[in-house]
Amino acid sequence: MNAVTPAGPSASPPALPAPIGLLAELTHRCPLRCPYCSNPLELDRRSAELDTATWQRVLAEAAALGVLHVHLSGGEPTARQDIVAITRACAELGLYSNLITSGVAGALDKLDALYDVGLDHVQLSVQAVEAANAERIGGLKNAQPQKFAFAERVTALGLPLTLNAVIHRGNIAEVPALIDLAVRLGAKRLEVAHTQYYGWAYVNRAALMPAKADVDRSIRAVEEARERLKGQLVIDLVVPDYYAKYPKACAGGWGRRLMNVTPTGKVLPCHAAETIPGLEFWHVQDHSLAEIWAGSPAFRAYRGTEWMQEPCRSCDRREKDWGGCRCQALALAGDAAATDPACSLSPLHGKVQALAIAESALETAPDYQYRTIGGAPRAAIPEGAPV
Ligand code: SF4
Ligand code: FES
Repeated sequence: MNAVTPAGPSASPPALPAPIGLLAELTHRCPLRCPYCSNPLELDRRSAELDTATWQRVLAEAAALGVLHVHLSGGEPTARQDIVAITRACAELGLYSNLITSGVAGALDKLDALYDVGLDHVQLSVQAVEAANAERIGGLKNAQPQKFAFAERVTALGLPLTLNAVIHRGNIAEVPALIDLAVRLGAKRLEVAHTQYYGWAYVNRAALMPAKADVDRSIRAVEEARERLKGQLVIDLVVPDYYAKYPKACAGGWGRRLMNVTPTGKVLPCHAAETIPGLEFWHVQDHSLAEIWAGSPAFRAYRGTEWMQEPCRSCDRREKDWGGCRCQALALAGDAAATDPACSLSPLHGKVQALAIAESALETAPDYQYRTIGGAPRAAIPEGAPV
């Protein structure tokens, strides 16, 4: 594995392992308007997006740094006119490319060309099985037949297909049907990903929060299907933070495995890092990816364990989950260096669970605040307000 030498006096490890993944957020433009989107509330406009040559240079720097996987994401990455050129650059550099797509609008028209230049993998989002429900959640009419046609072409080309279903109150009853759909569409993998409450999902939390009993039922459905479909379908399960016992190692640990480049070239340790005030992010226009990985103040802020407070500091799981999610700690505890309140050892954990139970018990869920560029959401939950 490649290694880079950290810059500056306070960098602790002598050799820093290289990141393995690059999330390339090529654009925030998207034909869907999902209320659970983890993109920031202030979405980048097309006029500010990086150009093709800059993305190609960034990809070359990623390959030189040791990155193995590039996730071509957004927004909807196929909304970029140059998506084929960017994918070709991945293939020429030996980077494994994963297209994270909604499969609608012009996506199908570009698929064969993407295959021809060496696209390796497709991850297709599905909002629900039942078309009316799926299109209500995604905020786009006639999306479902387009998605199914897209999936059919992916498998006809022989490309590996993963379906990604973000789970919430509005579709949790469909988890068994989503598993059947993945089999029917020929997917090799299904991600049953309970909503993570960042960005638009955070302001829509009360509309999205499922009941604990439904969560438990969905987990049982996944466990049963994993047995039944062994060798046919791999099912990844992301459990909902607010009902968890221990938090996830968010982004594989801050500054340990991933780099996230925004449409305008800002490089983040995770997709929601900009919600943490006071962090200094570096841009690909000013620094190489290697310089950013080693020296960017944002990457160094919560790397390792030195920054941890109790109970993380003395916990024997601290190098397993790296204290959970910094952005969630900020949102729920008001302090990005606090233990993630998703952890049962956090003093705030009980409050967070009570909040989830109260929101999921609302008789009528609030209307969705759909994701939109330039639209200001109602501040249902003030960001950074501790529970
Ligand atoms: Fe992880 Fe910190 Fe909780 Fe321990 S106390 S399990 S390190 S979040
Ligand atoms: Fe930022 Fe989890 S989303 S650390």
